[in-house]
Amino acid sequence: MAPVKPLSASVAQQLTSAISATLPETTDVDPLLRRSDRADYQANGILALAKKNKANPRDLATDVVANLTTGDVIKDVEVSGPGFLNITITDRAITETLAARAADGDRLGVPLKDQPGISVIDYAQPNVAKEMHVGHLRSAVIGDALRGMLDFTGEQTIGRHHIGDWGTQFGMLIQYLIENPDELSAETDTDGEQAMSNLNRVYKASRAVFDADEAFKERARKRVVALQSGDKETLDLWQRFVDESKVYFYSVFEKLDMEIRDDEIVGESAYNDGMPETARLLEEMGVAVRSEGALVVFFDEIRGKDDKPVPLIVQKADGGFGYAASDLTAIRNRVQDLHATSLIYVVDVRQSLHFKMVFEAARRAGWLTDEVTAHNMGYGTVLGADGKPFKTREGETVRLEDLLDEAVQRAAEVVREKALDLSEAEIQERAAQVGIGAVKYADLSTSANRDYKFDLDQMVSLNGDTSVYIQYAYARIQSILRKAESVAPAAHPELELHAAERALGLHLDAFGDTVFEAAAEYAPHKLAAYLYQLASLYTSFYDKCPVLKADTEEQKENRLFLCDLTARTLHQGMALLGIRTPERL
Ligand code: ARG
Repeated sequence: MAPVKPLSASVAQQLTSAISATLPETTDVDPLLRRSDRADYQANGILALAKKNKANPRDLATDVVANLTTGDVIKDVEVSGPGFLNITITDRAITETLAARAADGDRLGVPLKDQPGISVIDYAQPNVAKEMHVGHLRSAVIGDALRGMLDFTGEQTIGRHHIGDWGTQFGMLIQYLIENPDELSAETDTDGEQAMSNLNRVYKASRAVFDADEAFKERARKRVVALQSGDKETLDLWQRFVDESKVYFYSVFEKLDMEIRDDEIVGESAYNDGMPETARLLEEMGVAVRSEGALVVFFDEIRGKDDKPVPLIVQKADGGFGYAASDLTAIRNRVQDLHATSLIYVVDVRQSLHFKMVFEAARRAGWLTDEVTAHNMGYGTVLGADGKPFKTREGETVRLEDLLDEAVQRAAEVVREKALDLSEAEIQERAAQVGIGAVKYADLSTSANRDYKFDLDQMVSLNGDTSVYIQYAYARIQSILRKAESVAPAAHPELELHAAERALGLHLDAFGDTVFEAAAEYAPHKLAAYLYQLASLYTSFYDKCPVLKADTEEQKENRLFLCDLTARTLHQGMALLGIRTPERL
């Protein structure tokens, strides 16, 4: 592995030394380098430095330029406006840097973090015996992308699927199953959809009896107690609900083209044994107090409508533990046993108050220290075309599988229309990659905390900011590389570059910085935006610079080289987001 220094870093370094030479007394001389439309890079930092040193910005800028050595990397510097520096890079430096990236396999010259931490990512957490909905889709898609990006930076990631597998509703379900033993087949199903429809049937039927029959309600309540006290028969039946649900979860994750590891499915129930201790410690430390029989944590700043403090309930008055207790116990496990340095929760923004309170309580208890960051990556709501939370025409929540199937079907129409030499089987395979990619990309390309409209027509459109657009750019490059036959891509640093080649090249060079930034800010949309721009820059390069009909053999090889590196960067970037790039479309 050979990390490659991005051109922006070389330029920033040279500028920093020139500034230091000009202002020897001054520390903190960030040149504030940005990509710019006016030149390759623009440095805006001189202005602040001039202010600090009571100098004229233009004069200071001119002095800095005088101290800057142009040559290998920097071709030209120009002072513009009130002390901005417009910087142009040499063609040679661009091609040489890209050649070093191309020589570095899948990593494309991107370094690994110096001091990787351990990030525990809580994502893809559906609930047992319940249908998954679009909210669970977002958590899975965003969490998976986040993990891909963090892994690529060298961070160690551990997944935790905190599935909802515990609670009083299991009393009702299990009691019903005891009284109607044939309602779930003794053998766990292997067909996900079948499994879910079995569970739905049991859920509805047990609910109906529960609501209508007081005596059953009482038996269900007793069943909860039996479950909590670890009664063997009750636990076995509970396990059947969990297993049947997992069959369903896995079928959805498979459709989503997402790998979920069984040892990372650690649901709420996994923390049961630790919860009494969590409560005891909180009470001993005085973090939690007894209030009306319950054990709760109060926060000065968190108040309800009537200005009464809203407490976090660790243990209910009847002795039962709930959602907060399992999350607090999970934090102890993740920090003390898994040695996490970052905790990330990809959970609906509507739970942000819950996490705020849980984190604060854990900090007071010393379970979260200054060395550990905790972040709820709260995502917004998926809206329908009408701008209201996404529902079927009948006003029901949309079944996740139906939605994914429809996306694949729409994608098949798009693929078929364009497909010239694809068999029907190939069309179906591509349709799955395009359709699922479209759903993921639409989710990832807007900043996670915002709501977004689920609009399949827009998602599979070939024009605009879609995954299909990017996938087509990739497939087109593969087709060119195939047509080039015996001519292999090769970098020729001696060649002069077209403006479109330079723009593409400089963007290619920024891949690693983009991934690091997106990973550090937990912002997959930044990587998505980068990839869309890369595909757009490639399109204008392709329009302006003939590849197979280039002027000379060297130019052809060099352009093929740009094509190849673009394809590899698109492929790697999309893979980090969990999206495939088919070789042919
Ligand atoms: N199962 C929960 C739900 O569907 C999400 C769990 C989020 N994770 C957590 N550690 N609380 O709303």
